[in-house]
Amino acid sequence: MKSEALQHPPSHVAVIMDGNGRWAKKKLMNRIKGHEKGADTVRTIVTASREIGVGVLTLYAFSTENWARPETEVTALMSLLKKFIRTETPRLKEQNIRLNAIGNTEGLPADVREYVFAAMEETAGNDGMILNLALNYGSREELTSAVKTIASKLQKEEIAEEDITEAVITDQLYTAGQPEPDLLIRTSGEMRLSNFLLWQSAYTEFFFTDTLWPDFTRREFEEILSHFKTRNRRFGKTTCSLSDGSPQ
Ligand code: FPP
Repeated sequence: MKSEALQHPPSHVAVIMDGNGRWAKKKLMNRIKGHEKGADTVRTIVTASREIGVGVLTLYAFSTENWARPETEVTALMSLLKKFIRTETPRLKEQNIRLNAIGNTEGLPADVREYVFAAMEETAGNDGMILNLALNYGSREELTSAVKTIASKLQKEEIAEEDITEAVITDQLYTAGQPEPDLLIRTSGEMRLSNFLLWQSAYTEFFFTDTLWPDFTRREFEEILSHFKTRNRRFGKTTCSLSDGSPQ
């Protein structure tokens, strides 16, 4: 039986998993160890989200800016991603979770892309939860690519200028067809969006915690979800509270 606070969970939770490097530094370890421990937290939060009934979980795993990190770290992150996909795909299938990559997957190394696409195909029929892994993701790249697609349709006269609505733009994003995030969590005390879901988070509730991602637990995740339920979401109107049963 779920606690009262976890009934009616958010449809979409997004997470900026930050603090792996600082976690490792505090323990006098290599940064890569921090990412490895961070991958364990990913497993915990994916399972928790599925069990709680979150519809979409989006994790910022690798940004378009992360390529500027030292080559050894980028290589280690790519290996970790491959390992995660290889070991976790059977569990995703067991848990009825569909894996979906968001981001410019063309820019990923070919072997990583193959692992990702194979896992997406293997889990395509699952409908328990969507796990969006943001890989080579950046909102500005996403919006630029959307603008190019729409401009090309305009040029080919497949669409007229007056037909360009917010919905048309939303449909060109990597998250097309999915609900917007209700809640965005960022760990490690940093308070910024870092080019993550800029369009999609127009009415998202933000939650910042000082906990470093490798130390983030299911218990803290559940506490944040409980706290989220007390937020009064108005969507620019005067009143619309989750606790009174009004739509999210
Ligand atoms: C930010 O911490 C984290 C990342 C850039 C990568 C996130 C990757 C993982 C959680 C592990 C691998 C992911 C999967 C899906 C298996 P940081 O390195 O910027 O930390 P710092 O700010 O303390 O240096």
